Order: sequence, then structure tokens, then C-alpha cells
Amino acid sequence: MAHTSPPSLPQSFFVSLLLLLLLFSLPPTSSSSSALPFLTKRSSLSVENPSDVLVSPNGTFSSGFFPVGDNAFSFAVWFTKPACRIADCTPVWMANRGNPVNGRGSLLSLLDSGNLVLRDAGAFTVWSSGTSSPDRVVLALEDRGNLVLTNSTGDVLWQSFDSPTDTLLPMQPLTRNTELLSSRSRYNYSGGFYKLHFDNDNVLRILFDGPSISSQFWPYPWLFSNLLDRFLYNSSRVAVLDSYGHFTSSDMFEFYASDYGVVLQRRLTLDFDGNLRLYSRDPSASSPSWSVSWQALSIPCFIHGVCGNNSLCSYDPVKGRSCSCVPGYKRKDPIDWSAGCEPDFQFSDVCGSTDVGFVKVLYIDFYGYDYNNDPISNTTLENCQQKCLEMCGCRGFQYTMASSGPYYDCYRKIELLNGHNLPSFTGEFYIKVPKSMTFTKDQLTKRTQYTCPSPPVVPWDRNYPKKRPSSVLNFMMWFACAVGVIELVLVFLVWFFLLRNQQDVTSINQSYFLAASGLIKRYTYDELKKATKNFSDEIGRGAGGIVYKGVLPDGRLAAIKLLNEATTGEADFLAEASTIGRLNHMNLIEMWGYCAEGKHRLLVYEFMEHGSLAANLNSPELDWKRRFDIAVGTAKGLAYLHEECLEWILHCDVKPQNILLDADYTPKVADFGLSKLMDRGKGLNNSDFSRIRGTRGYMAPEWVSNLPITSKVDVYSYGIVMLELATGMNPATSVVNTGNEGGESDAKHVRLVTWARKKMREAGVGDGRTTTGWSRAVEEMVDPALRGNYDRKKMAIMIEVALRCVEEDKDARPSMSQAVELLLRHEDD
Ligand SMILES: *[C@@H]1O[C@H](CO)[C@@H](O)[C@H](O)[C@H]1NC(C)=O
Ligand SMILES: *[C@@H]1O[C@H](CO)[C@@H](O)[C@H](O)[C@H]1NC(C)=O
Ligand SMILES: *[C@@H]1O[C@H](CO)[C@@H](O)[C@H](O)[C@H]1NC(C)=O
Ligand SMILES: *[C@@H]1O[C@H](CO)[C@@H](O)[C@H](O)[C@H]1NC(C)=O
Ligand SMILES: *[C@@H]1O[C@H](CO)[C@@H](O)[C@H](O)[C@H]1NC(C)=O
Ligand SMILES: *[C@@H]1O[C@H](CO)[C@@H](O)[C@H](O)[C@H]1NC(C)=O
Repeated sequence: MAHTSPPSLPQSFFVSLLLLLLLFSLPPTSSSSSALPFLTKRSSLSVENPSDVLVSPNGTFSSGFFPVGDNAFSFAVWFTKPACRIADCTPVWMANRGNPVNGRGSLLSLLDSGNLVLRDAGAFTVWSSGTSSPDRVVLALEDRGNLVLTNSTGDVLWQSFDSPTDTLLPMQPLTRNTELLSSRSRYNYSGGFYKLHFDNDNVLRILFDGPSISSQFWPYPWLFSNLLDRFLYNSSRVAVLDSYGHFTSSDMFEFYASDYGVVLQRRLTLDFDGNLRLYSRDPSASSPSWSVSWQALSIPCFIHGVCGNNSLCSYDPVKGRSCSCVPGYKRKDPIDWSAGCEPDFQFSDVCGSTDVGFVKVLYIDFYGYDYNNDPISNTTLENCQQKCLEMCGCRGFQYTMASSGPYYDCYRKIELLNGHNLPSFTGEFYIKVPKSMTFTKDQLTKRTQYTCPSPPVVPWDRNYPKKRPSSVLNFMMWFACAVGVIELVLVFLVWFFLLRNQQDVTSINQSYFLAASGLIKRYTYDELKKATKNFSDEIGRGAGGIVYKGVLPDGRLAAIKLLNEATTGEADFLAEASTIGRLNHMNLIEMWGYCAEGKHRLLVYEFMEHGSLAANLNSPELDWKRRFDIAVGTAKGLAYLHEECLEWILHCDVKPQNILLDADYTPKVADFGLSKLMDRGKGLNNSDFSRIRGTRGYMAPEWVSNLPITSKVDVYSYGIVMLELATGMNPATSVVNTGNEGGESDAKHVRLVTWARKKMREAGVGDGRTTTGWSRAVEEMVDPALRGNYDRKKMAIMIEVALRCVEEDKDARPSMSQAVELLLRHEDD
């Protein structure tokens, strides 16, 4: 009796132990270990078997069922080196991107007829290659990512390179018969709205092809064919990227990746946001991640179709793109900004009624949809308003200085589409609204209330009712599954946490690299040493380092700043590089590249023919018109730094040495080595600027008293520079003969300011303001080098604005953009 105890318990325990060992012995990326090299006729890959994957000979790519949602799969090709969890791998091609198949029962089969078909569980064909061959055929994946079906003579019957989705791989040509179509969103791989293709004129273009409108935006549509650097008469229509990062197209468009010259993993992807980007990745790096080494559009709001009708696109390097309605309009769809905005009034109110007015907005532009396609040239604002009022369909107009002369053109808009904030845009825009509507200043200037929400992620669903297998099988299957699942979950959890930590680090590194080198080139130290002839031609010297003149390998003249090794850590360096690299304004110096090698830190800027303003102040070339234009341009550059790029950047060292002049004497503000990013509206304490000091003579009183540092410190320094431009007196060294009224520490410049104020007071300005006294005072102050050749009215404005900028009380100073407006106030009368 005793020996009849049931043996089942130890036996089942043993079985599950075996299972457990088996499971643990499997490596986590088991899929590739048993993967197939090729597929022959009458064989299939099953969605249910994770090891049913074709792998390229050296393992760089795999092809199989790729999860695109909940129980939804697409047949795809993806990168598998470095190893990745399948959902995190980067797909480069999909057979059925918009039509995924069920996670059970779906098969990719190579039929006896030679046709390659993808069948969903429901047994219907989702995709097929459409090939036929009586002969032997083989499906294999090449090391360059091409999935090919060949017959026994080696002829290609079908290949995935001929039907790209949103990505081109090196050596995969884009031809007259192919195009890239973006994904719908980050997680929805269905075809989206952006297309890269060869147009009828043989030019490679990106097109927004939306549900109701379509428009092309790259190359920029306002460049006519003859201004484009494109060749229109080569109808072969083919473009290709090589492994080194050089892209060439038959319309003579070409570009080089910023990391050109090395063989890396590369892919050219038309992203769901409408931008075309070249990504590169070094699979042998310690934490490989994709970085952008080229992109088609550096101004994201120039991409069409983002914000829809009657709305404006703004861009912030941190938060990304956002949309807002134009004054008088309200949002149409609370989720989808591409639906745009609709009038917050009855449209009949602005049609034919007399109670119609216009609201003026600055720094915005709407592309296209001009009535009659041509402007009313050389017209007045009143006439333009009248013409828009007379036209029922006119929604507003743009009033801009014509490029060919000192007169204004009027563009009436029948749609307000492709709107964007453009800090450098100098025209005015008037939107037609009922007179009864009033707007606060905030409504007219605050344009970033809303951030575009990314479309909600709704997982694909491909569930079908499940059939029940027989009960014995059922039990065995469930038992094995249950044990397996528990082990898998454990293994997965441990693995997941390991991987997660790793990923956090990667994403930080990537953003650093992105920010630092999005569009700027990384140079080697040797290249720059050669470019500057071993640092022989010194052109300037600043707190941060020495600037040399050089000739880049591509022949461009450049100013190369060699930063002091001792003082610039890598973090500081990347911060400066990324700050400068993101800025883009005609009155800011442009950075082309950088070098960070060992202890060497260098920045490569555009070369400015005329050097600094400081070097030109005594030059007879600096006539009155140039001085005034320099004052306005500098103010615009600083205004952009302070407000327009939405990232509040303080320069903190505005002085003539940091204002550079190009061949046309256009001023460009330089040297952001001392700038510091800060959040809008948050005043920083002096202690946060312990490393930062301005230059004697130009420093605002806040630096020495213990007041918060705001953008008004730059306004103050700017005011001093303007006084210097007008009077020719150097605030730091010139001794101005006057009673010493200022008790502040920076005594000499206070004397310049005090002297100017005293002149004004003596002339009776400030109380009663007599015109004759005012102009006499101005005459006495003006730089004698101008020999009286200046515009009396503008000079008076310039001095007046300068004196307002150097008010002791920071709140009494205008902002930089107000200073621009003040300077240009009387421009047109
Ligand atoms: C695999 O082959 C491709 C194409 O020949 C090559 O570019 C890549 O470097 C190879 N990868 C490895 C890991 O050998
Ligand atoms: C392979 O395909 C090519 C092109 O379709 C064809 O010309 C050739 O005859 C085929 N070879 C065999 C053995 O069928
Ligand atoms: C057209 O472009 C192709 C590919 O770039 C090139 O090989 C060919 O020489 C070009 N033809 C002409 C006439 O320029
Ligand atoms: C733009 O908005 C106006 C007013 O809501 C509407 O009449 C028009 O059809 C819209 N156009 C497009 C292209 O959506
Ligand atoms: C613009 O109009 C004014 C007044 O009608 C005229 O004097 C001037 O010559 C015009 N300018 C041009 C460039 O047509
Ligand atoms: C993906 O986008 C397509 C096309 O717009 C849409 O039909 C589909 O429902 C979307 N899928 C999901 C899961 O949102």
C-alpha cells in the first residue's frame, strides 16, 4: 500500500523544472538565433512564430512580422544591429503599412506560382508581390536592407527597394516611379500627408498632400525655378544617398551629412512631421543612437499643413511647434490643430457691412492664396484697406515694402493658410474683423497659448473571435503557456529594467548631440589647424578665446574661435554651441561648425568682412545712414534673442567689439559666450551670474547694485552703444568734460550718460520740450566726424531712444522690440 503513492506530483514538478531551465537557457533575443537565411517556394513565415525571420548575412537587417499595434502586425524590414527589442527596432520598409494583419494565423507565403503573398488570419490577401515564375525562386534579405526575390538565373523578380515607404537606405535610388510617403504619426505607420518625389519639372520636392488642400514647400515655393540651384532639364529623375553620407539628385541638388566621410548606418526618412532628415548611427558605439546629420527644413513652421486654416505656427526649440488662432478666430477641433480655426463672429458681419475694421499683427506671414495672384503695387495703406473691404472674400492683407523700391505693396488674401511667426518678417498683416471686436495687447502678441497635442495613440486592433482547440490539447497548451509566461515575465522584467536605464542615458546623449550639431558641421582639429594655417592670422581676442581667420576645406572664409582650454569645460562648450546653433536671424552671427577634440574647443563662424563695429567707429566709411542702420539691425538681433525665439537669451556683453559688420555693413551680434538661457519672466539673481560680467563702460547699474538681472541689462548696454554711435565718444575711455554727478562705480560711462542728459536738460528738453532747444542740443552732441551730414530728425530719435535705454530704473527702459519700433516710428513719413 505504501509504495502506491501517486507519482504524478514529482513528475510534473520535474517537467516544469525542465521547462524552466529551457526557458532560461534561451537568450532574450532568441528570434535571430534560429532565423532563416532565405525562403523558398511552398514555404511560409508565420506571425505566431517569433523565429520566423529572415536575417541578412551579417545580421544588420531582419525581415518578418513587425508589431504596429495591439495584436496588429506589418510585414517589414528593420535594423537588428545593434540588437534591439522588436518594438524598439527601427523599421525601414513595410509591405502593408496601412493594413496590418492579425497576430494569429497570418502568413507570408511564397506560393508555387512564384507569387509572394501576405495573408491575414481571415484568409484574405493583404498584399502580394504580383510575381510569377515556373522556375525556382528565393526570397532573401541583403546586407543593405533590400528584400529580394530572385530566380535561378539570379534575375531580380521583385525587391523592396523598388517600393520604399518613408525611408531610403544608402544605395537605394529614388526614381521617377517611386516616392517617399511619411507616416501618419509617430506610432501610426499608415501613409501620411507628406510626399517626397520628382515633380513634373524634374525637381525633387516635398509636398503636403492633405485631405482638402495640397501645396509644396521644399524647396521654398517663393524661389522661382530659375533661382533654385536646381537643374530642370535632366529627366532621368534619380536620386541616391551613398554610405558616406553624400546625397545627389539628377536635378543637381546634393548635400553632405554633417558626419560625412565615415561608413555609418544611415537612413533618409521623410518624418511624420513633414521634415526630411538624414539619420546616422554608429552601431559599434557604446550606446548607439540615431542622430540627425542633415535636415531639409531648419525652420519647422515653413512646413505646410501643420496648423490649418486661420492659424499661426510658432516654433520653440524646446517645446517644438505650436499653433494658435489669429485674432478674432477660435479653434475648430479641440484635438486636431490641422483643422484650423474658424471666425468667432458671423461671417456676414464682415461682408458688405460698414462696421468692419482691421486688426494689425506683426511678424507673421501667410504663404500663398493672394487674390488674383498679384499685389496692388505702390499703394497706400488706406487704399489697400479700401480694396480689401470692397471684396467680400478678402480675409485680410499683407502690407509690405516692395523689394524693388521704397514703396509698399498690398497683397489681399482669400485664405489665411500656412501662417507662421517670422521674427525677420518686416511687413505688416491686417486681419479683417468686425469693428465691435476689441483685443488686448496680449491677444495680439501672445501667440503660443497652445501646444500641438500629438494625435492620441489608438492601438490598431485586429482581434477575431478565437476558435477553441480540443480540450486535452487545450489543457496541455495552457499549462505550458502558464509556466512559460511566468518565466518570461520574470526574465522580461529584469531585462526591461536593465534596458530602461540604458535608454535614459541614450536619449540624453542624443538630444545633446542633436542640439549641438543639428545643422552645424563637426570639424577635426587638424582640419581647422590647416584652415587657419596653424592659427597664424589673428583677427580678434575676447574673454572666451582668440579668433583667427581661416579658409574651410570647401573654400569658404571663416572666423574660427579657439576657446581658452582652461576655462571651457565640455558642458559649457556644448551649451554655447547648441545655443548659437539654434539661432537664425540676419542680425545674429551665423555659426557653421565646431570642433571638440581632446582639450581643444573651437567654434567656426561666418567671416565678417568689415570686422567689428569698434574697429570701424573712426572710419570715414561709417556714414550716418550706416550708423542708423547698424543701430536698427543690432536692436533687431537683440530683440530676437530676447523675445522672438521664445527662449529668453541674455547677451550680457553688448558692446561695439561684439557687433560685427559684413560686406554691406549689415550688423550681426556676436559672441554669446556669456549668454545664459533663462525661463521667460523669471528674473535671475545676480548670484546665478557669478561667472558673468559685462564690460566696463557698458554695464547696467543692476550688475553693481544687487538688483535682479533681466533682459534690460542688454537694453542698457545697447543704449550706450547707440550714444557712442551718435556722439563718437567711447564710454569706457573718453573723459567727458563735465561736473561729476554720477556716484556710481562705473564713473566714466555715467559721465557720458550724464553729459548727454545734461545737454538735453539745458536745452529744456524733458520739461516743455522746445523743438529748437532740442535740435541745438542734438547738434552739440553729434559726432564731429559726421561733419553735419546726418538726418536731423532721425538723429534726434536715435539719441532720444538711446537715453530711454540707459534709464537707471530698468522698468523705465523699453524692451528691445519696442526700441526697434521707436527707431522706425517715423520711417515712412
Ligand atoms: C554588413 O554589411 C553591410 C553592407 O555590406 C556593411 O555596410 C555593414 O558594415 C556590415 N555590418 C557588419 C556588422 O558587418
Ligand atoms: C529569370 O527571370 C528573368 C527575368 O524575368 C528571365 O528572363 C529568365 O528567363 C528567368 N530565368 C529562368 C531560369 O526562368
Ligand atoms: C542626369 O542625371 C544623371 C544622374 O544624376 C546623370 O548620370 C546624367 O549624366 C545626367 N544627364 C545629364 C544630361 O546631365
Ligand atoms: C478656411 O476657413 C474658412 C472660414 O472658416 C472656410 O470658409 C474655408 O472653407 C476654409 N478653407 C479651407 C481650405 O479649409
Ligand atoms: C509710386 O507712386 C507715387 C505716387 O503715385 C509716384 O510718385 C511714384 O513714382 C511711384 N513709384 C514707383 C516706383 O512706381
Ligand atoms: C492610422 O491612420 C489611418 C489613416 O489616417 C487611420 O485610418 C487609422 O485609424 C489610424 N490608426 C490608428 C491606430 O490610429
